[in-house]
Amino acid sequence: MSKEIILTGIKPTGTPHLGNLVGAIKPIIEMSQGRQAFVFIADLHALNMIHSPAELQKYTLEVAASFIALGLDTSKAVFFRQSDVPEVAYLSTLLMNVTPKGLMNRAHSYKEIQDINREKAFIKQMRLLEEDTVLNKTFSEKCKNLKDRYERLKSEGNENTEKSNQLKVLLEEFQNITSVFEKRYKEHVGKSKDERLIEKVFEFEQKVQKNVDLDIGINMGLYTYPVLMSADILLYNSDIVPVGKDQKQHVEFARDIAGSFNAIYGETFKLPQPFIQEDTGLIPGLDGRKMSKSYGNQIPIFDSEAELKKKIMRIITDSKLPEEPKNPDNDTIFLLYKHFADAAAVADLRTRFEKGGLGYGDAKKILYEAANDYLAAPRARYEALMKNPKEVYALLGDGAKRAREVAAATTDRVKRAMKLDYFN
Ligand code: TRP
Repeated sequence: MSKEIILTGIKPTGTPHLGNLVGAIKPIIEMSQGRQAFVFIADLHALNMIHSPAELQKYTLEVAASFIALGLDTSKAVFFRQSDVPEVAYLSTLLMNVTPKGLMNRAHSYKEIQDINREKAFIKQMRLLEEDTVLNKTFSEKCKNLKDRYERLKSEGNENTEKSNQLKVLLEEFQNITSVFEKRYKEHVGKSKDERLIEKVFEFEQKVQKNVDLDIGINMGLYTYPVLMSADILLYNSDIVPVGKDQKQHVEFARDIAGSFNAIYGETFKLPQPFIQEDTGLIPGLDGRKMSKSYGNQIPIFDSEAELKKKIMRIITDSKLPEEPKNPDNDTIFLLYKHFADAAAVADLRTRFEKGGLGYGDAKKILYEAANDYLAAPRARYEALMKNPKEVYALLGDGAKRAREVAAATTDRVKRAMKLDYFN
């Protein structure tokens, strides 16, 4: 067993779907084998988005039951709920004082929300001015801007983040509005554009940008998110933090923060390393776009057999006839199948796609069989756990006990380093 400690957290912000299974749950379970691993449900982090206690409870239970049902060995891995270890909040408070505010300002996650706020405010103002037909030009420019930004995120490999999804949704909304404008423009103004009016529109846009509150909807939980995450990482002396690409910067922040603390109070924390999970390729949803809660195109891992079948049969395809050859590499059915079948079966389906002669209906049945075979046993376990959540809570409670032992040793060490223990 490797001596290295690995740690990762999963935010309970939705019912786990196949994209989560392939992109996070499966790789985390695999990585935790044969290692000292801490895996936790990051419910304190989810609080910056989810304010409904019932919703948070539901997602926490669903995520925890999913990990257990899919085979996380909770006797080896320390599996717990973040909020059961109050030491993390304590450490977070201490770390705040060695964290430059500017570091938080530079967090991609925070900046992206500001960008989205900027776009939203603009769209809102534009809607109010919908009557003004001459806006058309700035609109298409704005649209191009948004498109460029989305493309940039994509080329940086950040296509799969929640933020880039939101950006894409906004872009689509923008394009819709633009076409309405275009139509009106043609109807009312024809080809002659009044340059002065266009200038006015630019002025208007600048005013909107200046007056918009970029921090709207951003709470301090979100803003200080990376500090709490650093506390998670440092509390358990983590060496390696497996995360998706979008979280790499946060792990680097943890290194920076640990470094500042060590520089002031003496060597206290190990510096953690991010481990970027291998790219699993795009996991498409029902409509072919990335599977994501924000698109509503997801297939929950533990849908009933009947529901799973229904959803798979609903996958949107092109209109190629059964006899036509098809490209498996941009086909939703094939891309999903890859994750549920062995290499030989995958190669076989690839050939059948490329050769032609396989209709989409039959391909969907093949996918359904494979996914269902893969999921049947974990689903039975999941259903049993959901019926008896006490079993899940007991496992999490046991994990929390083990986690707290490590956590308390760390906070003691930190207090000693800071001489906060001077009269104990
Ligand atoms: N921020 C992570 C995410 O959104 C979840 C998380 C919270 C985490 N704390 C962590 C991941 C500590 C790794 C280590 O996916």
